[in-house]
Amino acid sequence: MRVLVVGSGGREHAIVKKAAASGLVSEVHCAPGNAGISRQAVCHPVTDTDIGGIAGLARKTSPGLVVIGPEAPLCAGLADALRAEGFKVFGPGREAAMLEGSKGFAKEIMDAAGVATAGYSRFSEYAAAAAHIEDGLFPVVIKANGLAAGKGVIIAEQPEQARDALVRCFVERSFGAAGLEVLVEECLIGHECSVLALCDGENILPLEPAQDYKRIYDGDRGPNTGGMGCYSPVPRVPEALAEEIIETVHRPVVAELQKRGIDFRGVLYAGLMLTDSGPQVLEFNVRFGDPETQAILPRLENDLIELMLACAEGTLARQRLRWRRERCVTVIIASAGYPLSSSKGDEISGLGLDGGLPGVEVCHAGTAEADGRFFTAGGRVLAVSALDNTFKAARQKAYDAVAKVNFDGMQFRHDIAAEPAEAEGNLTGRPA
Ligand code: AMP
Ligand code: GLY
Repeated sequence: MRVLVVGSGGREHAIVKKAAASGLVSEVHCAPGNAGISRQAVCHPVTDTDIGGIAGLARKTSPGLVVIGPEAPLCAGLADALRAEGFKVFGPGREAAMLEGSKGFAKEIMDAAGVATAGYSRFSEYAAAAAHIEDGLFPVVIKANGLAAGKGVIIAEQPEQARDALVRCFVERSFGAAGLEVLVEECLIGHECSVLALCDGENILPLEPAQDYKRIYDGDRGPNTGGMGCYSPVPRVPEALAEEIIETVHRPVVAELQKRGIDFRGVLYAGLMLTDSGPQVLEFNVRFGDPETQAILPRLENDLIELMLACAEGTLARQRLRWRRERCVTVIIASAGYPLSSSKGDEISGLGLDGGLPGVEVCHAGTAEADGRFFTAGGRVLAVSALDNTFKAARQKAYDAVAKVNFDGMQFRHDIAAEPAEAEGNLTGRPA
């Protein structure tokens, strides 16, 4: 069978690699893909949100499964358009995708389903929102309602910052239409984690938890990014806690959607804060995380395409997941200026690591190729993932590989998985 993957990031490269290794797959296509993806897939220059263009490509390539990676095409209704033409699709339709596309809708569903989340108020004009924060507690969280590529969340320590955030949303319209409705949320304290689960509309199959690093600099300083690194599994989230999260978050949300006649087929990603009073939801994503995918998939022993097809066909109940015991550590390498801007055209040396270092996988994100040479072409450039028996060994392997990569202005965090590696103490060679 042929598979068509939609998207162009490190997440899609990780998915494409699994698709290429699947016993069910004869040919992998990707739109638009990137320089690394073109090693395993036929890339087509069609933008991921060009619904007509992707549908046309699907008619031409006749895939047995279409996998939609990013949120924008899901929120734009790409899955619905493809399903209407009879294609099998991994990824929810537009209505279910509003769990990510509208933070207000996500809150409405959580309220109806009794899911624990930060207290909030919704506003559609500046004056009322500004009046509300005058009487409130600080810090407070201001969120643009719609999609803002991870940039629409501002944690305001002082009233001044909160007012600035509201001005950016309502007056300067920095987030476009996405910021014309705003949520003002209680600020939760604790550790964050991501719990992703496969879903076929009814059945739910949890993936092992992952820990993302959102800020650009070591020690969680600097602005938020799409994610600068990740590790999996997460010792702080043992199996019993992950199960509790699935039972109290994923299952009631999917059931509430079902009740409203909304079918969720794909991966439901809950971003959580582990607070003193239990896990609380920060956000939902309706897709695989980036870079969570690059840290989760190398540990998955199952055929990913078989699982995705089961989601699309509603037969997930028959599947069981199998995981490698090794730990996975993923380090993101970003270009100069990220996350405020990005630098294009810097030549990258040291690629081709996959062959050289066993247990290391490199996924491309913002890369382009010309005359056999690789150049930066976006903010996040590469994701380097390493597997080993301990976090300590896996992070050493990942950073050894990162040290082989070089380009002008390259940035990466030095503290990815430092915490679980430290917690292992002097244990080496054997999983904790
Ligand atoms: P979101 O896109 O909603 O996940 O927000 C991005 C990031 O902002 C999260 O990963 C958290 O680090 C932070 N954040 C969002 N909501 C809250 C909240 N209610 N309390 C504390 N931090 C938050
Ligand atoms: N790593 C966070 C996300 O994919 O949204």
